Amino acid sequence: MNAIELLKSQHRAVEKLFTQIDSAKTADAKQKLFVQIADSLAVHATIEEHQFYPTVRAKRTEDILLEALEEHVGIKRVLADLLETEAKDPTFDAKIKVLSEQVEHHVKEEETELFPKVKKILGAQELEALGQNMETEQIEIEEKGQPRKAIPAETAQAAPLT
Ligand SMILES: [Fe+2]
Repeated sequence: MNAIELLKSQHRAVEKLFTQIDSAKTADAKQKLFVQIADSLAVHATIEEHQFYPTVRAKRTEDILLEALEEHVGIKRVLADLLETEAKDPTFDAKIKVLSEQVEHHVKEEETELFPKVKKILGAQELEALGQNMETEQIEIEEKGQPRKAIPAETAQAAPLT
């Protein structure tokens, strides 16, 4: 799958999880869905930071990428907070709402501003190769298990644009 298609499919998957958690009835169901949200956002942010942004940056777009990295660290901070909050806690739903709004904003910026630029600067073959590298890293991260566990250590500042 090419890099943009891969990231977009992950965006759609996490949106679906937010819709599900929004209508979940029990704390247990919410907790399980949140674990899936946290793991998928952890994987998504990691492959973007390790592969997508550095490759795209090599061909300019720095301002958008720096903003995207600041949005990532904002999202990670809410995720880290949620990782320590039980679903039955009265603030859990409010934190999920804030998380979903931040993710929605970030997804919209990537899809309307960043990806159209990337499509102009990377050819079909480059996008395909990048997508494959990202999928390979995704599999590695998922095989290690519980990607969300890495999030709290990544909240001090935004990842550097390398
Ligand atoms: Fe992102």
